[in-house]
Amino acid sequence: MSGNSEINNAKVLVTGATGFIGSHLVDSLLERECNVHCLVRASSDLKWLPKERITCHVADLLDPEIPPSCLEGLEHVFHCAGVTVSRTRKGYFDVNATACRSLFERLLPAAAQLKSVVHLSSLAAVGPSADPHNPVDETSPCAPVTHYGHSKLAGEKIALEYADRLPIMVIRPPVVYGAREVNFFTYLEKLKQGWFIRVGKETRHLSIVHVQDLVRAMRIAAGSASGEDRVYLVTDGELYHWEEVSRIASEILNTRPRTLTLPESLVRFAATLSEMNAAWTGKPALLDRQRFIDIRQTAWTASSGKFFRTFDFQPEYKLQRGLEVTLDWYRRHGWL
Ligand SMILES: NC(=O)c1ccc[n+]([C@@H]2O[C@H](COP(=O)([O-])OP(=O)(O)OC[C@H]3O[C@@H](n4cnc5c(N)ncnc54)[C@H](OP(=O)(O)O)[C@@H]3O)[C@@H](O)[C@H]2O)c1
Repeated sequence: MSGNSEINNAKVLVTGATGFIGSHLVDSLLERECNVHCLVRASSDLKWLPKERITCHVADLLDPEIPPSCLEGLEHVFHCAGVTVSRTRKGYFDVNATACRSLFERLLPAAAQLKSVVHLSSLAAVGPSADPHNPVDETSPCAPVTHYGHSKLAGEKIALEYADRLPIMVIRPPVVYGAREVNFFTYLEKLKQGWFIRVGKETRHLSIVHVQDLVRAMRIAAGSASGEDRVYLVTDGELYHWEEVSRIASEILNTRPRTLTLPESLVRFAATLSEMNAAWTGKPALLDRQRFIDIRQTAWTASSGKFFRTFDFQPEYKLQRGLEVTLDWYRRHGWL
């Protein structure tokens, strides 16, 4: 297949709509005149959602009740809900894997009319690349290195089990950045405060994608869903290393950060301590031993060539432009 088509005026269901990626997707679907339904939890913070323009259904994905009124005439589903931080392996698997089956089961009554079910996975499901300059692609064997990555791979496998009954598409992004995002933001905040913090002396490579490109890619995948190929990596098409990210962001921020190189052993120790604290408080730690495994990889690089060719897709945000608009948003909203 080549070429792409966007979805317009369609009835869509978004899970994880209150999250970073889901909320941007909702905005972009509304711009395309879609009738947007969202599954949200009773505890969800709806601050990023235009509540008056969407229909919210309260459901926890661990036991999702989808009302018949939501399934009626439903054309596209975007499954963005997921857990990116958890204190336990089970915490990742419950939502990123087990809950997927519950969701897909609930969608089966609408299978005949559904045109796409876009399942948002992650590069973490594939794992890091052995060679930074030889990025992983869709033919690479999956070898996740964290609980998160294993749970995302398990979720993909469940999604693909349903591919004979539901029009499943799996999208695997690397690091996603943009307005509203809180983790990459802390890295930018440190730069603004004058520090480029790196772990060990090794150059670490990455792929990245701006959230606007990712949600456009998801809409296009939904609008063009067909055929046997169902799994795609979506990046901005470039390979970077963190020094480069730091340089571009610092130029935009007009700062000259000093590099603070933390020994791996120190970061591992800090991760262990913070994990113990998390066990004490019951709240997941931003840095734990799982996150440390993630950080210490040499290359989280991926090739998006297959997606670009299949859907005639060109990202609109390379890092320079993506960081400009992102940093501008953080400034305008008083985050920086
Ligand atoms: N951000 C990235 O860099 C990145 C990269 C690759 C892949 N991904 C994947 O993209 C997806 C979205 O990531 P994100 O960054 O937008 O995450 P996020 O901001 O943390 O949002 C997660 C969303 O999932 C929902 N959720 C979690 N557990 C749920 C449950 N039991 N029932 C119903 N909803 C639940 C959350 O709802 P509440 O508001 O109620 O908590 C929230 O809406 C995830 O699947 C993640 O694995 C993200």
